[in-house]
Amino acid sequence: MSRPPADTPLEGRRVLLGVTGGIAAYKAALLARLLVQAGAEVDVVLTRGGGHFVGPATFEGITGRAVRSEVWEDIAAGTHVALGRAAEVLVVYPATAHTLARLAHGLADDLLATSALAATCPVVVAPAMHAEMWQHPATRDNVDLLTRRGVRLVGPAEGPLMGGDEGPGRLVDPEVAFAAVTAALTDAGSGTGSAARTATAAPTATAAPTAPSGPDLAGCRLVVTAGGTREALDPVRYLGNRSSGRMGFALAAAAAERGGEVELVAAPTELPTPPGVRRTDVVTARDMHAAVTARRTEVDVIIKAAAVADFRPEQVAPRKLKKDRGAPAVALVPNPDILAELGAARGTADRPVLVGFAAETDTAEDNGRAKLTAKGADLLVVNDVSATDAGFEVDDNRVVVLDRRGGRQEVALASKRVVADRILDAVVAWLEGPRGG
Ligand code: C5P
Repeated sequence: MSRPPADTPLEGRRVLLGVTGGIAAYKAALLARLLVQAGAEVDVVLTRGGGHFVGPATFEGITGRAVRSEVWEDIAAGTHVALGRAAEVLVVYPATAHTLARLAHGLADDLLATSALAATCPVVVAPAMHAEMWQHPATRDNVDLLTRRGVRLVGPAEGPLMGGDEGPGRLVDPEVAFAAVTAALTDAGSGTGSAARTATAAPTATAAPTAPSGPDLAGCRLVVTAGGTREALDPVRYLGNRSSGRMGFALAAAAAERGGEVELVAAPTELPTPPGVRRTDVVTARDMHAAVTARRTEVDVIIKAAAVADFRPEQVAPRKLKKDRGAPAVALVPNPDILAELGAARGTADRPVLVGFAAETDTAEDNGRAKLTAKGADLLVVNDVSATDAGFEVDDNRVVVLDRRGGRQEVALASKRVVADRILDAVVAWLEGPRGG
């Protein structure tokens, strides 16, 4: 296990570590050790379930402080609120589905729950559970509530779970949680949620291809657009395109796992909303235009992965067009180019960072570079959609990420989820880079 960096901002800080009942609770001992090594004063609250997996003696040995589990001890000292009030950051690691629900709904049924209600400090929560539990609408709603309330969700990662299962639900590594705690304290201390600062302070922890790259988007607000817009011809027909939305949804999922506050503006698709992501559904390019531009000044990054219809029928027939009347002449009018408008509206400012996509079939990269300039974007992800193993309607993709300083990065054929992480690496690098490009 790696040691924390020497210049840690944790020296002398009060960290309240909540440990709940999952098999991964043993990893909390490693997190406690990292925090203590970094100079933090760590109070551990062990829930009843947590105590089934790991004992208080382990934590007392590591932290040198009493481990608490009961509300009914030291009543005169106000135990039920004292630890929460004193904490400068609360981290729940691991957080079970049950504890996520308790935190989301403000229950006060044990010492961790009362401490969380009394805490006014930043809260970091690292979920761990079986994939079905994580994906259940109840858990997703709870995560959504917590995220909207400013709680920093870190993970879960994907990988092996208890009992031989696989999928999202794995507790992030202690180093990743440690970095999230550090980022939460750093942000709270500086009074800024700036994505660039957070990214600089954040770790380069896990490197597994499908695991999140750490909470390096903590404090960063992102809009991600996804899917193909539809333009009505009549009440039953529309002009559309082959975009499935998978790349945009993968980006939204990855950005949320990396700590970002993500708003997904989705054109019609069957895909489920990724955990921790807020979603606005739209149908037409003009709907998407309204949804994205309304958020333009509130966000740090806009990623335009959607395939937006460039044209729409000038007239929408009020009734279904009849075959026996012959082929209709359909006049088309241009839709707003959302990305180009965002680029123009931003002018010389450096936020929001604008990321465009280009689906090309010929001289993809040259066209991509021209598009990057024409639209005033910072990064442009070029897809060669003439390939059959990547791009539209398949799970894999292969892209080149261009930036407006002339940079270029190839991302080899991989699942869209992995490609999403590599694109986000480029976004984080851009956020950290020299301002104004
Ligand atoms: O011009 P083209 O459609 O190839 O540009 C692709 C990029 O521009 C994508 O990021 C897409 O989301 C965005 N775009 C847009 N509004 C349009 C057309 C495309 O934002 N009307």
